[in-house]
Amino acid sequence: MKKGSAISDPDLPALVRRARPDDIDRITMVLDAAFSDDPVSRWVFPEHPQRDRWHRGMFRVFAEWSIMTGGAYVAEAPDIDAAALWIPAGPDTLAVPPQFPYLPDLQQALGPAYPRFVALFEHMDVVHPRDVDHAYLPFIGVLPECQDHGLGRLLMRHRLDELDKAGTPAYLEATSLRAVSLYEHLGFDRTRACIRLDQGPALWPMWRRPYGIEPEAAPDPPGRA
Ligand SMILES: CC(C)(COP(=O)(O)OP(=O)(O)OC[C@H]1O[C@@H](n2cnc3c(N)ncnc32)[C@H](O)[C@@H]1OP(=O)(O)O)[C@@H](O)C(=O)NCCC(=O)NCCS
Repeated sequence: MKKGSAISDPDLPALVRRARPDDIDRITMVLDAAFSDDPVSRWVFPEHPQRDRWHRGMFRVFAEWSIMTGGAYVAEAPDIDAAALWIPAGPDTLAVPPQFPYLPDLQQALGPAYPRFVALFEHMDVVHPRDVDHAYLPFIGVLPECQDHGLGRLLMRHRLDELDKAGTPAYLEATSLRAVSLYEHLGFDRTRACIRLDQGPALWPMWRRPYGIEPEAAPDPPGRA
């Protein structure tokens, strides 16, 4: 999709488009709010007077990286109420530490919360498919007061249509069984892996083969159920 082009859904007064650099503050705010009570967020960022600052700082770094690599998408209705950050991943472009290029920025933004964040990404790294180029979705979030109105699904559908046309598989880790069900409706399957954080919640890795592509052209990653 060209920068600035957009889609809208006749049943939903919202428009999906690729994010621009000047969207970064709003995207950071939306994702910070959407994930404030997420179980995995709560594990990485336990209660602390500086929790909100570190949490927001993490989303700002990811938003910047995703915007710069063209993988950030927003839904406007008419303000930006939902955002998704996609990152290219595969044999040559791994999305997780130690290859993650924004590590120094993250380390600075997260301060003492950084080791816990690295621990999460090490857990995810072990099961992240490496053999196949794919689009990785580390974050999608809708403002709490705007959830359950179809924005998340609209945002996903838009990007998945693009990935289908490009023949690109997609990968993510769902942080709740409700989210698993959303992603299953969009064509994702759970892999054999399940990530269990020490004394914390589980994450369910999910893989989606692009529609219309023969299995030989878009193989499943190792370990897929
Ligand atoms: C998950 C989320 C992106 C879905 O967006 P949404 O606009 O609220 O969802 P939609 O209205 O498009 O509904 C689509 C599906 O999302 C799921 N869903 C809705 N609210 C959800 C929530 N709070 N958490 C998880 N899944 C949710 C439902 O399964 C729904 O399917 P249904 O019609 O069968 O009930 C959004 O609720 C959110 O930001 N949640 C908090 C952050 C989060 O959990 N992000 C995903 C981490 S994997």
